[in-house]
Amino acid sequence: MFNETVLKEIDEIKARYPDERSALLPSLYIAQKEFGWLSPKAMLCVAQTLNLPEAMVRGTASFYAMFKHKPMGRHVIQLCTNIACMILGAEKLVGFLKTTYGLEPNKTTADGRFSLVIMECIGACGTAPAMLINTDFYDNLTEKKIEDILGKYK
Ligand code: FES
Repeated sequence: MFNETVLKEIDEIKARYPDERSALLPSLYIAQKEFGWLSPKAMLCVAQTLNLPEAMVRGTASFYAMFKHKPMGRHVIQLCTNIACMILGAEKLVGFLKTTYGLEPNKTTADGRFSLVIMECIGACGTAPAMLINTDFYDNLTEKKIEDILGKYK
């Protein structure tokens, strides 16, 4: 079960809505933040906390790419390689991450520091290529800029 801090956070979210189902997405996000990913146990905790069927929680969690269903690195890099980013060098940046950090799509570095997820458009086409690290946004990426950015994440 969730600890008291997490339960309080979910209770505050539940209070904003007329029914508990409306609190599902933010509660899943909180569970992912707490456990690092949405394990079957984490989804069961969400279902029990919100009094929802476990199947509804799993079905919702599996629909959204932002929810992770396996253990991830401490920092999750979500790099866009869709058309605008691809034209402006995103594929080259994927190669750079592999060569420099040993980081491949859907994999985690051996030290558990980073995981890489390739994303479709993240809404920053005008300043492509773009990525998220956890919830931090970065754009106009170059190899040098990525190197500087990743240095901030230990
Ligand atoms: S194509 Fe990469 S942000 Fe839109």
